[in-house]
Amino acid sequence: MTRRTRIISCGSYLPAGIMTNEDIAKVVNTSNEWIEQRTGIKSRHIAAQGETTSEMATHAARQALAKAGLTGLDIDAIFLATTTPDQTFPATAVTVQDNIGMGDHGFALDLQAVCSGFIYALATADNFVKSGQIGRALVIGAERFSSLLDWTDRTTCVLFGDGAGAVVVEVDETGTGSAKDRGILSTHLHSEGAHRSLLYVDGGPSTTQTVGHVRMNGKEVFRHAVTRMGEVVHEALAQYHLKPEDIRWLIPHQANQRIIDSTVAKLQLPPDRVVMTVSQHGNTSAASIPLALTVAIEDGRIQRDDLLLLEAMGGGFTWGAALVRW
Ligand code: UT7
Repeated sequence: MTRRTRIISCGSYLPAGIMTNEDIAKVVNTSNEWIEQRTGIKSRHIAAQGETTSEMATHAARQALAKAGLTGLDIDAIFLATTTPDQTFPATAVTVQDNIGMGDHGFALDLQAVCSGFIYALATADNFVKSGQIGRALVIGAERFSSLLDWTDRTTCVLFGDGAGAVVVEVDETGTGSAKDRGILSTHLHSEGAHRSLLYVDGGPSTTQTVGHVRMNGKEVFRHAVTRMGEVVHEALAQYHLKPEDIRWLIPHQANQRIIDSTVAKLQLPPDRVVMTVSQHGNTSAASIPLALTVAIEDGRIQRDDLLLLEAMGGGFTWGAALVRW
């Protein structure tokens, strides 16, 4: 008998406001053609004035709980990945804990790994579950990335959007330890701080005492992303001696269609095995993977026993993957 962590439900939230490429072209010197051709993005959701990361996270968490037939009191821990917390402290996760009625049950914390945040949070939850410390958790990726954008910088402001996605994970002891068991088969995390100045925010409490704006060397980030995403997919597959063709659904971080296309080409995966939401969501950082996962669950693409590979790369650099038998 093996102690595994299984994702039992998903939820998501996208703000009502939609900003198209044409809308952005009224703000900065850009065009729908440039954005779509270079990134695959057509539109993104932007949070309303005053709409916070914790509110979006709470919507997604409530949906995931409802789908699992659970309440906040059934949850032992919240792992919330975000780069855009409501406040510097307390953690946004404790607001969600209060909103979903957990009271003083369990614990709640934020994780910061930018666009890899959901993979980091899922890996952390997986290890808490496997160690026996908790039985069930909410793993959330939630971002109000529009708050970090310099709306005069066309090289960054066209890329990002807002939203939240959540999953409920719980212990499953029915498996035998093989790659056929349902649940999270493995997680793989990496970082390399030497590249932190290629993608960063130029503010923070201990430096400028301001929130700051996203700054990026797009070309270098692109180059590293293609390399690292490819590497980590192979690393994840190697653990169980699996081949790329065993992957039923690749659910990559949705940063740029061209980065995803390069990864898929390197793996020689048919493009119809990739879940793509970047055209409608833009890059929602830590929220992008659970948002894409929810879309593919709800439209019926992902079926029981499918092998999923989730992978992401973000500022730091951080990168990682999770192999999941659905
Ligand atoms: O989650 C991880 C976060 N970030 C990423 O994954 C982003 C990774 N990088 C990328 O996706 C791409 O590098 C970008 C989409 C950001 C940029 O694409 P690119 O093909 O690398 O373009 P570039 O930066 O080389 O710029 C090409 C040209 C430049 O003009 P010149 O110097 O050739 O005259 C830019 O000034 O495009 C110009 N440009 C734009 N033009 C219209 C840059 N941004 C824009 C824009 N609209 N929004």
